[in-house]
Amino acid sequence: MPSNIPHRENEINQLSSIIAPALRGYHPNNIFIYGTCGTGKSLSIRFVLNQLEDISRANGSEVKTIYINCKMKKVADTEYRLFAQLLQEMGVHVPDTGLPTDVLYRNFFEKIDEKKRVVIIALDEIDSLFKKVGDEFLYNLTRVNGELKRAQLSIVGITNDLSFLNNLDMRVKSSLGEEEILFKPYNAMQLKDILQNRIKEGFNEGIVEEGVINKCAALAAQEHGDARRALDLLRVAGEITERLGDPKIEEKHVDIAEEKIDMDRVVETVKSQPRQSQAVLYSVLKLSNNGHTRVLTGDVFDEYIKVCANNSIKSLTQRRVSDLIGELDMLGVITARVISKGRYGRTRDISLAISDSVLEKVEGILRTRFGD
Ligand SMILES: Nc1ncnc2c1ncn2[C@@H]1O[C@H](COP(=O)(O)OP(=O)(O)OP(=O)(O)O)[C@@H](O)[C@H]1O
Ligand SMILES: [Mg+2]
Repeated sequence: MPSNIPHRENEINQLSSIIAPALRGYHPNNIFIYGTCGTGKSLSIRFVLNQLEDISRANGSEVKTIYINCKMKKVADTEYRLFAQLLQEMGVHVPDTGLPTDVLYRNFFEKIDEKKRVVIIALDEIDSLFKKVGDEFLYNLTRVNGELKRAQLSIVGITNDLSFLNNLDMRVKSSLGEEEILFKPYNAMQLKDILQNRIKEGFNEGIVEEGVINKCAALAAQEHGDARRALDLLRVAGEITERLGDPKIEEKHVDIAEEKIDMDRVVETVKSQPRQSQAVLYSVLKLSNNGHTRVLTGDVFDEYIKVCANNSIKSLTQRRVSDLIGELDMLGVITARVISKGRYGRTRDISLAISDSVLEKVEGILRTRFGD
């Protein structure tokens, strides 16, 4: 966590003023924080909660904050895990499985209600929790104040899914959205400040050339003002410079960093796909002759059947394969353009969207998995 957070003063003040009543024993309104990725949401909420804990410790008020990143594996995969984690944060150990979920619920609420206090639970990446378990847990969490005798509970939900609230049940929506705070993307100037601040903390003086900061900021600004992207570019450029034994970070190192980050991203995406989806991608890859040829859905399907047969995989229907093609398109690994074939219906014109430098690596991965 950086020691200061430029360009988030307003959001942090807003958050603080909503949460501050906790120090006087009142429960803050629930808060919904949203904004695209890398806009400082997680950083800001953690900063504010830390401050709140510090102040409450200093002045003896009973405030407990819990921060949970719902995307973390084994933390919030199921409702059971979520409540087990919440209990853990309250100092109660829970076995990995075994108890009925409603017992965990009850244990948790009894635990927080042990004494008069305000409990604030921040659920970061709340959309991934919702996708896994639905919104009933949220309903229960936001309703519980009526049942608690001593303690009071507030919820902070954080997401980069801008339409998340609309997916929720009306009652949950209005309750979680009592206060809404939008984190806007950073512009290039703001990203430059953020980089400069962190350069002071992370690099020796004179190591980073001026043009490097501008370049990282500009590239990240193009990509919806994502501070993580800007910082990643700088960090990876630094690592590359060090590895090459060069004395200073220059713009050319940022170019290499950009390529490396993109490569890692594509490779990670491909590796993390389910086997069926990888088989579809491999079929496209085999047909497309190093990315030079476009192919049609039907051809991909025929090739896919062969790949499945060679690898003893149970093949899916053409319709399902077509869905998988759509998903690969959304992930940015292929481009699938719908074309009309008149009265013969519609098909898709498919091409690879992987750059030449990465293609070889992806092909290697898939070939070891599916053979030639
Ligand atoms: N104003 C800032 N000053 C310094 N560092 C920042 C600032 N904003 C973001 N960062 C850094 O940028 C990275 C991304 O920020 P953060 O994790 O808070 O984004 P986010 O909005 O939670 O993104 P996501 O939606 O992807 O979770 C982190 O390393 C964070 O420390
Ligand atoms: Mg975040």
